[in-house]
Amino acid sequence: MCVWDDTTKKGLFIVFEGVDGAGKTTQAHLLVERLKKSGHDALYLKEPTNGQWGQKIRHIAMNGRDHVTPEEELQYFINDREEDSKQNIVPALQSGKVVVMDRYLFSNAAYQGALGFDPGLIFEKNKQFPQPDAVLYLDIEPEDGLKRVNTRGEANVGFEKIEYLHRVHAVFKGGHPGFSKMIFIDALQTREKIADAIWQKILPLLP
Ligand code: TYD
Repeated sequence: MCVWDDTTKKGLFIVFEGVDGAGKTTQAHLLVERLKKSGHDALYLKEPTNGQWGQKIRHIAMNGRDHVTPEEELQYFINDREEDSKQNIVPALQSGKVVVMDRYLFSNAAYQGALGFDPGLIFEKNKQFPQPDAVLYLDIEPEDGLKRVNTRGEANVGFEKIEYLHRVHAVFKGGHPGFSKMIFIDALQTREKIADAIWQKILPLLP
């Protein structure tokens, strides 16, 4: 079912993507702060959410994929996005907010693509949801990302194994046309430099 009618959109939709440990959450929050300081009504959202489907997903992240098929996993992410779109994304965009999203459908195409699904099929399933105005890809090698995650003590067994992250990274950067919207930002720079590079990309899009 389509949850989105593009003609009712007033706001701006910005998405952060990248492998684990790339710095998405930090940069998404910095961007929200900067947007608010410059007078914009900005909202931070993240997927997976804390809703019913997000909790099922977190369970896989903590305990591994033992009893969950790839098809079920893919469906959990789609269900989570459907709920998030209806409850949060669409209302915020309709009311004119700048939505800053920490992971979205590109993670779906890359992470579940790395399980063996055709990314094209995953993009197709995600057509029903609001499509972003800008996608910022924080670019880092999986090893470097994982080092940061491990330093924070947050690694999870379901999604953050190095060989899996290599496949995810390969799908993200594999040239599928669905990823062509992504703006690549070198995630090994300092926090401030990354934030400035992002701001330069976003400024021209602001009302
Ligand atoms: P979480 O700890 O919530 O997020 P993050 O690493 O972004 O701080 O873990 C979520 C995991 O879910 C992350 O490893 C990426 C993965 N993921 C998918 O596999 N498919 C998706 O569609 C999304 C949104 C995330």
